Amino acid sequence: MNALELLLNRRSVSRLVTPAPAGNELQHILAAGMRAPDHGALRPWHFVVMQGEGIDKFSQLLEKSAIEGNLGSEVAEKAKNAPYRAPMIITVIAKVVEHPKVPAWEQVVAAGCAVQAMQMAAVAQGFGGIWRSGSWTDDPIVRSGLGCEENDKIVGFLYLGTPELKAPTKVSTPDLTNFVSYF
Ligand SMILES: Cc1cc2nc3c(=O)[nH]c(=O)nc-3n(C[C@H](O)[C@H](O)[C@H](O)COP(=O)(O)O)c2cc1C
Repeated sequence: MNALELLLNRRSVSRLVTPAPAGNELQHILAAGMRAPDHGALRPWHFVVMQGEGIDKFSQLLEKSAIEGNLGSEVAEKAKNAPYRAPMIITVIAKVVEHPKVPAWEQVVAAGCAVQAMQMAAVAQGFGGIWRSGSWTDDPIVRSGLGCEENDKIVGFLYLGTPELKAPTKVSTPDLTNFVSYF
């Protein structure tokens, strides 16, 4: 699959099973994230790779946040189970710093580009993934459990693994009419 085919046909995959990327595969994914466009070469991101016990700990964090937020047992159960939807999750945290030329929003966008780059690097190697977020990204228990500092912003949880179903739905050619103008 060449780069253009990947970009035009990529799909997110929510049903992910083992194997997760490992060894060089994972290194390529992380290196692709590090190559995200980055104004000022700040590298304003941090990647937290979770699998196995890491996913168990993440599950406990989500459950705790639901319980302490009094969200009810059904939500707590759902939160507890959510991380097990993939064998690997990479949490991407934007590490936002004060900078005279690079405002906070640019740093958050750069971290978002890192998520997309990692997802595409996973797909290019035969894996699948989905970028998820939810209210957990701003939850104090989740943030502190994942080592966030005050100005950090969790931009997403990248769920990765092997697509359970072999043929993801095909994408149709997009109608650009309302999305593009030429000046
Ligand atoms: C910042 C961000 C957060 C997202 N959060 C979620 C989420 O929490 N749950 C979800 O199902 N999809 C979420 N998505 C959308 C999926 O990643 C995916 O793009 C969507 O399911 C459409 O599938 P496609 O990528 O194959 O078009 C998010 C996307 C972005 C960019």
